[in-house]
Amino acid sequence: MSDLSGKVFIVTGGNSGIGFEAAKNFAERGAEVVLVCRSLAKATEARQKIIASTGNESVRIEIADFSSLKSVNELGNRLAARYDRIDVLCNNAGGANGSRITTDEGFEKTFVTNHLSSFLLTRHLLPALLKSAESGSARVVFTSSLGHKGSPLDFEDLNLVQGYRTLKAYGRSKLMNLLTAMEMHRRFGDKNLICSSFHPGAVRTAIWGKGGILATILGVVMYPFMWSVEKGSETFIWLATSDDDEAVNAAGGYFFDCHRARTAEFATADAAARLWEVSEQLVAPYYKTES
Ligand SMILES: NC(=O)c1ccc[n+]([C@@H]2O[C@H](COP(=O)([O-])OP(=O)(O)OC[C@H]3O[C@@H](n4cnc5c(N)ncnc54)[C@H](OP(=O)(O)O)[C@@H]3O)[C@@H](O)[C@H]2O)c1
Repeated sequence: MSDLSGKVFIVTGGNSGIGFEAAKNFAERGAEVVLVCRSLAKATEARQKIIASTGNESVRIEIADFSSLKSVNELGNRLAARYDRIDVLCNNAGGANGSRITTDEGFEKTFVTNHLSSFLLTRHLLPALLKSAESGSARVVFTSSLGHKGSPLDFEDLNLVQGYRTLKAYGRSKLMNLLTAMEMHRRFGDKNLICSSFHPGAVRTAIWGKGGILATILGVVMYPFMWSVEKGSETFIWLATSDDDEAVNAAGGYFFDCHRARTAEFATADAAARLWEVSEQLVAPYYKTES
């Protein structure tokens, strides 16, 4: 595996599951890694584990709650102030909610946590990513899911006021991750910014216990058939770091098991462009740069 010394990797949801596994791999190979987490205690434990296992002390922690755009805006400003170059942004934090929750900012919680927050963070970090891209290439990897095939977007009801179901909200948010990678490629692909998304497989992580009773039952039933965290993070690590032709030419694509995979028929370029426009409008009141 190639040496990543001198490179900066940002991993959201880096304290746990496939985010932790990928962050550990990047640190092992010499990168400076920033673990973006919502819990300081979990982040500190993860950082210590990574340093103990890799010997790389360049593992930093940033705390932000992705259910709050205010919190993510502050995170974006801190990271943008610290790094004028970022090599790889891994938009990985996410989860599901057993019932419909409206955040203090007025968004359905899955929508803001899994999509709008990574959109806002990406927007803050774009100048630093493009700076790295100027001198080679930079990458943005979105952790999507096969669940994106469950339901097309309803642009009239992005907050799922009508007919909330856990898997519908989760699947739509994962479709948004995939569409954002597509549209990022259309906008910035010619600037050496490589954007992609992937399905990690059904993986034995804590996520199954965090999304309400249905997710817990599904997790228990599927547990024997699930992939290990090591296997589940392979495509993630490959897209973020590999020099294989297929990874370098990811071009907004969606991947599974280190190969390009079929998306839902409703994952169209038009939906991607529209989602980008709408997301820009929704995050605009929270996007306040300090520079
Ligand atoms: N496991 C699977 O089978 C599977 C399949 C398809 C896609 N995925 C995707 O893979 C990604 C990683 O999940 P995982 O399976 O590795 O599960 P995980 O271990 O639960 O990791 C999810 C990460 O996201 C963080 N997170 C959740 N809500 C957050 C919030 N409001 N603010 C900040 N961070 C938040 C979690 O923090 P805490 O530890 O504090 O909760 C954790 O670090 C997710 O995007 C998920 O949708 C997983």
